[in-house]
Amino acid sequence: MRFNGRLIPALFVLSLLVPTVVFAWPWSTDMMNQPSVKPQETYKGKIFSFPARSIPTIGVLTTVANRDEAKSLQNPIAVTEGSIKIGKRLFIIYCSACHGLSGKADSPVSPKIGAIDLTTEYVQKDLTEGWLFGTITFGGAIMPAYGISGEGGGSNDLSVEERWHVVNYVRNQLAKQPVVASKADK
Ligand code: HEC
Repeated sequence: MRFNGRLIPALFVLSLLVPTVVFAWPWSTDMMNQPSVKPQETYKGKIFSFPARSIPTIGVLTTVANRDEAKSLQNPIAVTEGSIKIGKRLFIIYCSACHGLSGKADSPVSPKIGAIDLTTEYVQKDLTEGWLFGTITFGGAIMPAYGISGEGGGSNDLSVEERWHVVNYVRNQLAKQPVVASKADK
């Protein structure tokens, strides 16, 4: 057994490569090719219904079909510092371009597209939190939708929880303390 000294280390190195080869075999697609549905995904223009008896992880109905249905939704996310922080970050990314960093419709495009001031009593008191959630989810006449995807929908950018964080920020801090984008928010 002259070559034993080299054969055994060589076999050992080869054995380390086996998993790489196995994963590349055409039949090992495992969970790659399976039907899966994203929350509130649309199908033929309608929001996909969840299977019976399934509940969303935050325990509230999220399969509302339009803004009117969203109106009476209860906000399931407590107004905490953490929630407001996430909401603020998302607001800067998704809302400030049109509504302004301060929320007062003072961005360069605000007047051009008719984006409204979000610090007024109308948005802060008159509208329900559910309606705000619905506005973010389905958009408005001009405002884009952030919670639906597929035909006729927007980009499905914000998850249910994220949308409520934005609502928490808009309703609990925006009007009190205008946003100054800082490094910490990026
Ligand atoms: C592309 C520009 C644009 C962006 C981005 C945008 N909005 Fe709007 N928003 C508008 C316009 C325009 C209106 C008023 C007309 C309408 O309903 O489309 C509006 C209206 C609203 C209203 C009032 C709804 C009502 O019933 O009167 C709320 C609340 C609101 N936006 C919140 C948000 C929040 C929160 C975000 C970020 C997630 C956001 N908007 C992002 C353009 C925008």
